[in-house]
Amino acid sequence: MIHADYAIIGGTGVYDPALLDHPTEEQIETPYGTATCTIGEYKGKRIAFMPRHGKSHHVPPHQVNYKANIQALYQIGVKQIFATAAVGSMRQSLAPGALVIVDQFLDFTKNRPLTFFEDGEPVTHTDMTDPYCGRLRRHLQTTAQRLGIVAAPGGTYVCTEGPRFETPAEIRMFAQLGGDVVGMTSIPETVLAKERGLCYATVAMVTNYCAGMSGSPLTHQEVLDEMAKNVHFIRTLFFEAIAT
Ligand code: HPA
Repeated sequence: MIHADYAIIGGTGVYDPALLDHPTEEQIETPYGTATCTIGEYKGKRIAFMPRHGKSHHVPPHQVNYKANIQALYQIGVKQIFATAAVGSMRQSLAPGALVIVDQFLDFTKNRPLTFFEDGEPVTHTDMTDPYCGRLRRHLQTTAQRLGIVAAPGGTYVCTEGPRFETPAEIRMFAQLGGDVVGMTSIPETVLAKERGLCYATVAMVTNYCAGMSGSPLTHQEVLDEMAKNVHFIRTLFFEAIAT
């Protein structure tokens, strides 16, 4: 039987299940489609690694099969999910390279599956007071402190539909509304995990200042380059948080 206790969902720039012992690639069938992940061990803990955009980044953020991914992790027994996210920063104080353990979101997606609770499932309104698992956030924060990794202990993630980047006017609006960082994937992933009762946290990695803040156009390559420079911090943080 395929089983894991923990999952790491790797976002942009995080495609490699490095550090997992005895890795096997698994296809998990769900009512929403097939999800692929690599399952292995780290210090005796069984971990499923799932690259959100596929191993070669071929699935854009608005076409990720979020329902299949979360359902698959739920079916194999995962209880805790650690997600990474590349984000732009709307705050001068959060420079490229900064890590943010986000604690709130603003949902600006437009056209994505919203919920498991439709098509004959019981009508259910899920509490979103603490959308990212508070217990896991605090554990990540204390683990980061112990490792000497600097991570902001909270922040509001604005999720856009993508795949285009934002206009400077949109960024000014999001900042006024209280957003700190912008990305394209936290919704509906966070919501679906909560609906399935899973403890889910996201560590966002700032890869750039948002559109209109840096004086030059934003490129996907810039995002990838910055992620590559710093991804080892998130990897170390996640594996240490799982091991302890
Ligand atoms: N906007 C949206 N998504 C992103 C960004 C951004 O500036 N950087 C990395 N992912």
